[in-house]
Amino acid sequence: MAKIHPVLRNRTSGVSFSDAPLESEKIASLLEAFCWAPSSRNAQPWRLVVVQSPEAHQKFDEALSENNQKWATQAPVKMIILGNPEEQPDRNGQNRWLLDVGLALENLLLQGCDMGLTVHAMAGWDEEMVMKNFNIPAPFRVAALFAVGYPGNVADLSEELQQKANQPQVRKPLDEIVSWDAFGQAVN
Ligand SMILES: Cc1cc2nc3c(=O)[nH]c(=O)nc-3n(C[C@H](O)[C@H](O)[C@H](O)COP(=O)(O)O)c2cc1C
Repeated sequence: MAKIHPVLRNRTSGVSFSDAPLESEKIASLLEAFCWAPSSRNAQPWRLVVVQSPEAHQKFDEALSENNQKWATQAPVKMIILGNPEEQPDRNGQNRWLLDVGLALENLLLQGCDMGLTVHAMAGWDEEMVMKNFNIPAPFRVAALFAVGYPGNVADLSEELQQKANQPQVRKPLDEIVSWDAFGQAVN
């Protein structure tokens, strides 16, 4: 494998969280990393809701898919990533705001990894419930939810979650996803 920055290879979507609370400086670093992402026209069409109080945790947890409730509810901090399609209008029939928000999310995932945290993004949730539970107004859309905390002991997880935690990280080989000079053309 070609050489890459270690944080890119070390990041994983872990499912175990320790009981240790997340220090406010760590949360501040995650938020700072998020906002330094690039975006088209520097529109920054993103917002974040940080979930800290027990009441907000409950509202977050109930909006998760059944599978995500199995592991994400244990995290000490959770966040909701929002996008505003009006701040980054569609182009070529594509949702451009989602790309910007995705880049900001990756910034945060990498910052979290660099600080030794587990940060796990989720697409499994009920958007209507998230909007209602957190008073999110239109035209904002929910882009992603994620759970963050210090990694816990995998051995303490259920068998099902241990299996998820121990799944090998796999990626498509580069020759399957990269073309040279024209789509589908392999390197000479
Ligand atoms: C936008 C996004 C949504 C995801 N949604 C979920 C989810 O709902 N539940 C889950 O367990 N993992 C979710 N994941 C984690 C992926 O399953 C994970 O990134 C992928 O399997 C690769 O594993 P790795 O992150 O450990 O490299 C999501 C990841 C991303 C980027």
